[in-house]
Amino acid sequence: MTQPVTDTRALRNALGRFATGIAVVTAIDPDGKPIGLTVNSFSAVSLQPALVLWCLGSGSANLEAFRKASHHAINILAADQQDLSNRFATWPTDRFAGLPWHGGYGGAPVLEGCCASFEVANESEVPGGDHSIFIGRVERYGENPELAPLLFHAGQYRRLAEL
Ligand SMILES: Cc1cc2nc3c(=O)[nH]c(=O)nc-3n(C[C@H](O)[C@H](O)[C@H](O)COP(=O)(O)O)c2cc1C
Repeated sequence: MTQPVTDTRALRNALGRFATGIAVVTAIDPDGKPIGLTVNSFSAVSLQPALVLWCLGSGSANLEAFRKASHHAINILAADQQDLSNRFATWPTDRFAGLPWHGGYGGAPVLEGCCASFEVANESEVPGGDHSIFIGRVERYGENPELAPLLFHAGQYRRLAEL
């Protein structure tokens, strides 16, 4: 049975049936400080050219900084990085405290221990209701095929049964 979109929480629950991975998107703000947040709205868009997207809520404290940053990095979290997912979704907190990272292509922070990372040039921003859709061109990327991913489904962290 289907229903009209009258209850945002119910819609959110239904959308949560779509299982995803989790990423931490990072950049360097105009003051030179690393910024980042947890997202599960990451998606591949195109292979040629190499484009990816993610969505940022219009209420984000980092919206202007991501708009201004020429590059950002998308760090795909591994199964043992649930604490990082929580840390980068919590405010206020020093999200990078004690965290090993290095500047990738264009300077955006690439985190250690992730399943994969994509260093992207900020190509365009498309309005998407109460979110902004950031489309980026992948300049460099890396992967750790031996690491299992952290998953998100129905509002809970999950892991692959096979790995
Ligand atoms: C699993 C998970 C997925 C999330 N996905 C998104 C997302 O795709 N886009 C977004 O804007 N916020 C998302 N959030 C919420 C942000 O991480 C959270 O609101 C964060 O505090 C925003 O930080 P900022 O205001 O400093 O940018 C997600 C949180 C979690 C735990």
